[in-house]
Amino acid sequence: VTTTLGKRTAGGPEEGVDGLEAIMRHGGRRLREVMVRTELHLERVTSGAGPPLASHANATVTAGGKRLRPLLVVLAAESAGGPPAGADGEERLVRAAVAVELVHSATLVHDDLIDGAQLRRGNPTVAAVAGRQIAVATGDLLFSRAFAELARNEDAAQLCALSDASSALAAGELLQREDAYAPDVAVERYLHRCELKTAALFEAACRLGALTAADGSAAVADGLGAFARRIGLAFQMLDDVLDVSGPVERTGKARGTDLLDGTVTLPLILARERDRSLAAFDLASLDGPRQAEALCERIAATGALDEARERALAVVAKAKAALPSILPGGRSLLLDLVADSVVERYR
Ligand code: IPE
Ligand code: IPE
Ligand code: MG
Ligand code: MG
Repeated sequence: VTTTLGKRTAGGPEEGVDGLEAIMRHGGRRLREVMVRTELHLERVTSGAGPPLASHANATVTAGGKRLRPLLVVLAAESAGGPPAGADGEERLVRAAVAVELVHSATLVHDDLIDGAQLRRGNPTVAAVAGRQIAVATGDLLFSRAFAELARNEDAAQLCALSDASSALAAGELLQREDAYAPDVAVERYLHRCELKTAALFEAACRLGALTAADGSAAVADGLGAFARRIGLAFQMLDDVLDVSGPVERTGKARGTDLLDGTVTLPLILARERDRSLAAFDLASLDGPRQAEALCERIAATGALDEARERALAVVAKAKAALPSILPGGRSLLLDLVADSVVERYR
């Protein structure tokens, strides 16, 4: 098994995410073993889904991916005292980690369909390869398998946490469509969208981890949930910066992909405040990747990317600052490193 954590499949984007490798080193053998079990379980769930969708579901899940959300599940559980002793405790933890990654994968398949994206994790998207119907059905399958896995943990609180995140995701995607091509998206509204479509699943990851722990209290679940929410928010803000700044070799998708499909992200919002000609620019007039790339250059020239990055870093700093009070006694080291790795990805 190659765990793809911090080490994308050959030729894929983001090879060697240093921050995540550092976490695996610090986490030692036990962390590695749980992540490998998660990987095997994911593979088993998707390949066992039956034709005609299993191949697309399996290809999506095995194409790479940082496995950041399952890692959060596992680290949150460890920070909250670890799973109960015995094989079943760890089994429950792995199921929760798998369920979160399956929901994430489902949303990516649907997101790429909605966004009209051609590339994901360096490969053609399901929508591009197999069309709309198959992409809808593959995403649905991944969603349903996620909840089937989690149901086996027989804990309504876990199901509610994942269901809340899935509902938020759907609302976030709708909000994004509503605001597509809009000339006047407010920063607050943008942040709210990021909370819904990204931060909510990060929060669920840490909540699920805490809920599978032997002595994870509600207070720890809330605290870790709030930590993860901030990390998720910063992660999306930085992902949006990368869409404008990043070359395809790094991101696995063309530069300016968000702008091309009308998504108004923080860099553009801030650039519009700084440059009047950009304020008047209509995203709907963008015609092809070359023009999108030129718009990226104009946004970068305003200094908006630096400001967006700084805002995201401030959110990460806040998340880190709150950790010691949630997890006293130095139990937060690995989560601290996750926070760093989110920033590291964009250096
Ligand atoms: C991509 O998430 C979607 C966003 C929330 C920006 P990731 O960057 O975690 O995707 P993978 O799983 O590593 O491919
Ligand atoms: C993140 O949104 C996807 C979800 C949270 C569903 P993006 O549209 O920014 O993600 P990428 O850039 O396609 O990975
Ligand atoms: Mg997208
Ligand atoms: Mg993006």
